[in-house]
Amino acid sequence: MSDTPAPPVRLRADVLATPAYRQGATPTKPGFKLSSNENPFEPLPGVLAAITERAGLSHRYAAAGMPELRAAIAEPFGVDAGSVHLGAGSVTILYQLVHAAAGPGDEYLYAWPSFEAYPALGLASGATPVAVPLNARAEHALDAFAAAITERTRVVLLCSPNNPTGPAIGRADFDRFMARVPADTLVVLDEAYREFVTDPQAVRGEDVLREHPNLVVLRTFSKAYGLAGLRIGYGVGDPAILGAAASVAVPLSVTGIAESAALAVLAPEAREAGAERIAALAERRDGLAASLRELGLDVPEAQGNFVWIRETAAGEGGVESALALAADFAEAGTLVRPFAGHGVRISVGEAESVPEVLRVVAAHLGR
Ligand SMILES: Cc1ncc(COP(=O)(O)O)c(C=O)c1O
Repeated sequence: MSDTPAPPVRLRADVLATPAYRQGATPTKPGFKLSSNENPFEPLPGVLAAITERAGLSHRYAAAGMPELRAAIAEPFGVDAGSVHLGAGSVTILYQLVHAAAGPGDEYLYAWPSFEAYPALGLASGATPVAVPLNARAEHALDAFAAAITERTRVVLLCSPNNPTGPAIGRADFDRFMARVPADTLVVLDEAYREFVTDPQAVRGEDVLREHPNLVVLRTFSKAYGLAGLRIGYGVGDPAILGAAASVAVPLSVTGIAESAALAVLAPEAREAGAERIAALAERRDGLAASLRELGLDVPEAQGNFVWIRETAAGEGGVESALALAADFAEAGTLVRPFAGHGVRISVGEAESVPEVLRVVAAHLGR
């Protein structure tokens, strides 16, 4: 942060020392944007009409509580609307939950590499982030997680499928892990990409939520439903936990336009189109992963809308430098997300992006 000018007022040193969340870059030339795990399809049927209609009420705050939307979300979980909390993106609920549960001297655990927002979630509350490295298959090392839980651990974040590496947590592994977590420790299952999962053995929030009062499941309308720009996501779990999250939330941040769009994508007319698109993206992902493996790359099990190319010491099964591969992509006009020292995440985008990704990777590998 040395190139940032000193602030004219007294601010917290720990905040100043922490880099802000870095969003996927904005394209500067024509090409594919495969750096933010966005949905390449245009808005689902009914979304634009719902937004346009609601725009006529832009001078009003959204109705308190959004009960219709919360009830629709609650239904597949077998809970009522009181067990659903909405946020301006699920990332806001991640912050709220960590703030509600973990203060100075407390710890929260997360896998690494994982969602890039996790390390800074506890900063403002004074909680200490504890990263648990993924295992050799780029999965959550759940035994190491269980071993890392101490008296000070207040929150355990699990990301399934894991962004950026791809594997989902297996149901049996999840059950075994939960049996080892103290009942008074909050577990957050971040399922931002759950809709893309095709592995029947993977954990699914709906199946496990009611067994664990200390579990909150997070989902989003940003990815599978393509509403990333409107900012709406949700948590499902114990109403008292979610009430505490609401206490530290920025009030009034979920907009009526986002609410209307979310209701539109859950409407029967949009659901079928949505399911078709999700299936198409999952199939495209599997094809891309298979083709990358044919190039000799050890791509981990991909269950989200992205694939992962590892950085490996001698380039064995991966590439020698994530940054160098990302630079080759940028040169060709395509944006991907490098994690220096770890690998490169490539989102599953437009159908035409697939041959372009394979072309750039093959050229990088000298194939
Ligand atoms: C694992 C994970 N969780 C949560 C989010 C946040 O999504 P949103 O705030 O758009 O709902 C993301 C976004 O990339 C993510 O990758």
